[in-house]
Order: sequence, then structure tokens, then C-alpha cells
Amino acid sequence: MASPDRFGALKTHAQSLQEQSLRQMFAADAERFDKFSARFEDLLLDYSKSIIDQKSLDLLLQLAKDAGVAERRDAMFAGEKINGTEGRAVLHTALRNQSDDPVVVGGKDVMPDIRGVLDAMSFFADGIRSGEIAGSGGQAFTDVVNIGIGGSDLGPAMTTLALSPYHDGPALHYVSNVDGAHIADTLDALDPETTLVIVASKTFTTIETMTNAQTARKWIAGTLGEEAVGDHFAAVSTALEKVGEFGIDESRVFGFWDWVGGRYSVWSAIGLPLMLAIGPDAFADFLAGAHAMDKHFQDAELNQNLPVLMGLVGVWNRDVLGYSSRAVLPYDQRLSRLPAYLQQLDMESNGKQVKLDGTPVDEQTGPLVWGEPGTNGQHAFYQLIHQGTTVIPCEFIIALNGHEADLGHHHELLVANCLAQSEALMLGKTLEEATAQLTEKGMRPDKIAALAPHKVFPGNRPSITLVHESLTPFTLGRLIALYEHRVFVEGVIWGINSFDQWGVELGKELALALQPMLQGKISAEGKDSSTRGLLALFQKSN
Ligand code: F6P
Repeated sequence: MASPDRFGALKTHAQSLQEQSLRQMFAADAERFDKFSARFEDLLLDYSKSIIDQKSLDLLLQLAKDAGVAERRDAMFAGEKINGTEGRAVLHTALRNQSDDPVVVGGKDVMPDIRGVLDAMSFFADGIRSGEIAGSGGQAFTDVVNIGIGGSDLGPAMTTLALSPYHDGPALHYVSNVDGAHIADTLDALDPETTLVIVASKTFTTIETMTNAQTARKWIAGTLGEEAVGDHFAAVSTALEKVGEFGIDESRVFGFWDWVGGRYSVWSAIGLPLMLAIGPDAFADFLAGAHAMDKHFQDAELNQNLPVLMGLVGVWNRDVLGYSSRAVLPYDQRLSRLPAYLQQLDMESNGKQVKLDGTPVDEQTGPLVWGEPGTNGQHAFYQLIHQGTTVIPCEFIIALNGHEADLGHHHELLVANCLAQSEALMLGKTLEEATAQLTEKGMRPDKIAALAPHKVFPGNRPSITLVHESLTPFTLGRLIALYEHRVFVEGVIWGINSFDQWGVELGKELALALQPMLQGKISAEGKDSSTRGLLALFQKSN
């Protein structure tokens, strides 16, 4: 039996909206910004430049209700095993739970274990930061190399950069790629005597991380001696036995749990590098920000609930208007890794083609997520965003205040650019306006006729804008949690499991099988001609 068309009414309504442009909607309603924006604390979500009206919003809110967003959210927070394909609870929210409420998984309150690991991390971080915990030669650590990939890299790497004004601990370096260039270039610039290596892997089996960890081990052992390894290594993992086999002492291992997904793990011991950089107190603020967003997600009415509204606008853009990507455009240089972080969060979570019951999805699911910080992107790909044939909904993020007030008008210019972009996307420029501008400049009519079409901007291109007071540990934690819950809302509406990632497995399996073929140890017979042809190239170069 075909599934009912849950988007039927939305799609019909969207057609009627086509008669009006965003420009006209703003002209017709002076209150549009007030009607289509929502606040939580100092965080503002302006979604008035999305192509929606009150009826679309009402229909979307009904869709969220019918899909059971609130019920599923409550099930997640309650520790139910909502990650069905892996039989796991989804409780990254417990890692930042600042209330006294217990969080029960399988009959056990997990809060004491979480607090225990946080205390151990804090003790270790304080020791490293003060120099009390030192290298094998007694020198304080000046540098920390985090070896991890995906969720064991992107979260701490993105947040360390984002919070650089708060960074008063050792310098942080992140190695993720199995390409030897990554670790070689990183270690080249460091002194092993004063370097601490953290091996971060939930499973402690990921080939990239294990390969890089072995290389780092050789570097330490080769320069300082085998006995120095214990002093210069720490690990973060859920697979404590495997860490032991690697030779890292138990007292240097920080655990977490299978109910923390890799891409949701920055709040766990995976955040240790960030804690080393900014200190345990600032790290606690980071957790507090996320907890505040958790409470908002749980308590706010759906029509004032920021993650719900962002999720609904996302679904509207993806499934009703048919836009296949979204650009994340932070007007904040320190958030330059946020798009990469959100790529994993969003695309690994919602890049799915079957529903929870294994049957094909009814609608398009996760869009392509990409982006770069403004204003750099303006001088690269914004041309296509403004005049290309593809509509790309944009998400602008900006702080009211930058950290560099002493540098004069930098922030003012940043803000002006950010606001100008969403205005330009919404308004566009008509042929008449382009013609009038050129006429005013005194251009000859024949030249105007030739040039004006190139100066037309279609406009009616949707965007949302997120504004917060300033980028602090608290507001960053809140922002990431907002995006996590937005991904959750969209996943519930699509009826998919946002917490597994089977799609990464096939490539891993095939890579494992190809390695011995590259070494010539086993034959490539049976492989397709392209793979065989490519293999032969590499075999010849060996
Ligand atoms: O790429 C798949 C993945 O499992 C991600 O989900 C995860 O964040 C990453 O690999 C790293 O995994 P681990 O922390 O187990 O090394």
C-alpha cells in the first residue's frame, strides 16, 4: 500500500505561494520579521527570509506533531533505545546534563559515571596545564596532538578554533587523515620532549587513527625511548581493552559509552583536547550552553522552539520546494570549521534511504551541507548563489559583538556584509532596476541593453540568520546543540534512524580487501576492469 502523501497539503500550498515573491511578502507585511523570528536567551533565529507564510508554518507544525517529534524527543532524553539498528540509546544530552535528575539506561543511572569521567578529565587537564603532569624528561607539555577522525576529530578541532580567545593551555594539533603527509607535517614542527599525544577513537579500530597512532608511537619511542611512551600518550575510547593492548596506562584512558554517537561525542571525553586548551571551567560553560539548548528543546512550545523551527524550515526547503543543498555561512572566521563539522553531523545522520522499518523513504532526506565563512565565500562561490540556476538556501551565523573591539570597525563591516547578503538574496534586482542604474551612470542605451541582463538578480532566494551576543564557550555549546536537535527533528519527520552510519562501511570493507592486492599478495581477478586498471598503475609504481 502506498504511504499517504504527508506533504500533499504543503506542496499544494507552496504552489499558491509561487505567485508572490519574498520581496512582495515583505512589502505587504511590515511585521514579517516579528512573525517569523524566534528567540531563546540572546539567540535569535530569523527565518522571515524563508519562502513561507503563516499557513505553511501551521501545516509544518502539524507535520511535526503528526510525525511525533515531541514523543520521539522525550524518548531520546529518557534513554530509550531509539537507535534501533544498533540497539542503543542516544544520550549525548546526558553528557551535558547539569540538573540533579538521574538519567537511566538499562536500569542504571549513568550520571555518576559521566561525572566520574569529567572529574578525571579535569584532574588530568589541570595537571597538564599547570605542568604538574609532565613529559618523561620532566618538561611541561607545550603541545598536544589529537589523533582521531570523524567525530573523534571534527568536534574538538572545530571548537578549539572557535574558542581561541579562551585558549590558555598548550597548543593543539589535530591529525586525522591516513595520508602520511598529515602526521609528518604535524610532528615535523614539534619537539617530542614536550608533546603529549591523545589517541581518540570510540571503537579503537579505525584504520586511519590506529595507523597514525602507531606512527606517533614510533616517533616518541624512537626519540625518547620505549619507556617514554606511557608519559607521552593518553587515550579516549569506549573500547578500554583495546587501548590497554596499545600500551596506554589505564590512568591515562578516558572512557565514554556506546550511547554516545561519534558525531555527538564532543561533550564526552572526546572533548578532552578542548578542555586542555580552555580549561575545565570554560569546558563546563560549553556543556552548560548545550544543556540550556536541551532544556529549550524539551520545554518550548513547538512554534517557539528553535530546533523545531529550523528543522521545519529545512524540511520545507528540501521536500516541498525541492532544494537539494544548504550552505552554512558563518560570518565568523573562528567558525571556519563549523561547515565541515555540520557536514558530518547532518549528512552522516540524515543521509539515509530507508525508514526505521527498512522500507524506502517517502521523501528526499538529508540535503548536501557545505559552506565557508563570510566574507571569504563572497569572493568565491556566492556568484552562483546569487545568479546561478540552482537555488541554495543559506544559513548565516553572526555574533552581535566580535572579540576584536579594539581593532575598530572590522566587526561592523562583517555585520554589514552578512546582512547585505541575505537582503540581496531575498530582494534580487530586476531588469528595470539594473537598466535604471546604468542609465543613471550615463551609459549609452545600446550598451545598457547588452549589459543589463547580466546585472539581473532573480532574488526570492531563501535564507535564515542566527544571531547571538558573542562567541563564548556557552554560546558555542548552545549553537552546536541547536544544530544537533535540528538534525533530530528532520530525521523524525523523515522517519529515519539519524544515529547509525552503515553507509560508511562498504568503502572500509573494500579498502581492506584492496590493500593486499596493492601489495601484490593476492590477485585482483574478479574486480571490475576500472579497479583492475587503476590497481595496475599503482602496482607498477611500487
Ligand atoms: O566514518 C565512520 C565513523 O564511525 C564516524 O561515525 C566516527 O565519528 C568515525 O568513524 C571515527 O570512529 P572512531 O571514533 O571509532 O575512531
